[in-house]
Amino acid sequence: MNILVTGGAGFIGSHIVDQLIAKGHQVIIIDNLVTGQTDLINPQAVFYQEDITNAEQVNKIIQQHQIEVICHQAAQLDVRKSVQDPQYDAQVNIIGTINLFEAAHKNGVKKVVFASSGGAIYGDTDMLPTPETHPTDPISPYGIAKLVMEKYAHYYKTIYNIDYTALRYSNVYGPRQNTQGEAGVIALFISKMLQNQQCYINGDGNNTRDFVYVQDVVEANIQAILGDLSGSYNIATATQTNINQIFDILHQLTSTTITRQNREAKLGEQQHSCLSYDKIHQAINWQPQTNLQQGLLQTVEYFKSRG
Ligand SMILES: NC(=O)c1ccc[n+]([C@@H]2O[C@H](COP(=O)([O-])OP(=O)(O)OC[C@H]3O[C@@H](n4cnc5c(N)ncnc54)[C@H](O)[C@@H]3O)[C@@H](O)[C@H]2O)c1
Repeated sequence: MNILVTGGAGFIGSHIVDQLIAKGHQVIIIDNLVTGQTDLINPQAVFYQEDITNAEQVNKIIQQHQIEVICHQAAQLDVRKSVQDPQYDAQVNIIGTINLFEAAHKNGVKKVVFASSGGAIYGDTDMLPTPETHPTDPISPYGIAKLVMEKYAHYYKTIYNIDYTALRYSNVYGPRQNTQGEAGVIALFISKMLQNQQCYINGDGNNTRDFVYVQDVVEANIQAILGDLSGSYNIATATQTNINQIFDILHQLTSTTITRQNREAKLGEQQHSCLSYDKIHQAINWQPQTNLQQGLLQTVEYFKSRG
């Protein structure tokens, strides 16, 4: 199958590309390398350094390669940046996505699988683990954009019969994660700890997140791309882990000598986030395969091997 992966030079996208190529598919990548890295690009993929906001180029690539399925991972994913510059966030996350759907319907693409965000679209909730039926009240432009993407997907399915799967990830971690972004507390801590540099916990560290390992996220994407899963699904572990626990496990795994230090909490930071994965489990039997201890160990090994 001819598959376009946007963001295929990034953390999650590059792992998806590798899996698709290992299964014998022809993979085309569009990535502008704003956070992606050339050394993550699978050499067997066809790579375009291009921006998804460039509608003409996006259409040309999809037409030229007779794309059958689009796996859309490219995004502006910094929540704070979305607050500072909502126009830029919307340009990439909303207009960029519309460009893909428009090119999809003009060129007979059958399906679009894309990365949504469970952490960002439900907003603050005391219903934990949060199911997909929970009201969506995003409290950031990033979360609004992810929700709008799902609405456009529904529109293109209804009007043009383009199938879609929206995968609402919780907090993804694992090898290749960028250490710069705010999504990557685990990558950030590991990289600091391996250099014995101080890292800080924002607030008291009792806030919790639902950390899902990247290979489990990749598996959900592969099943959505190759199978007939339609609609919106959480991809998560339904388990809450607080930041102090993360710090302590990584402290042990990296053998760092730094000590735990806290600093002022970030304004507007969500206290708890945890998603139910019952819906996708019932639909295709997906469930996370990697527990936190194993996943963190593999992530630490990866960062160690990079020196
Ligand atoms: N990492 C997480 O915890 C998490 C959680 C929820 C949702 N997501 C979503 O998963 C997807 C992948 O995120 P990731 O963690 O791999 O981040 P990442 O930054 O590693 O990957 C994003 C990729 O998109 C590319 N990109 C950004 N803007 C682009 C543009 N305008 N045109 C073309 N390429 C562009 C970047 O260069 C990068 O390679 C994103 O859609 C993100 O919103 C991630």
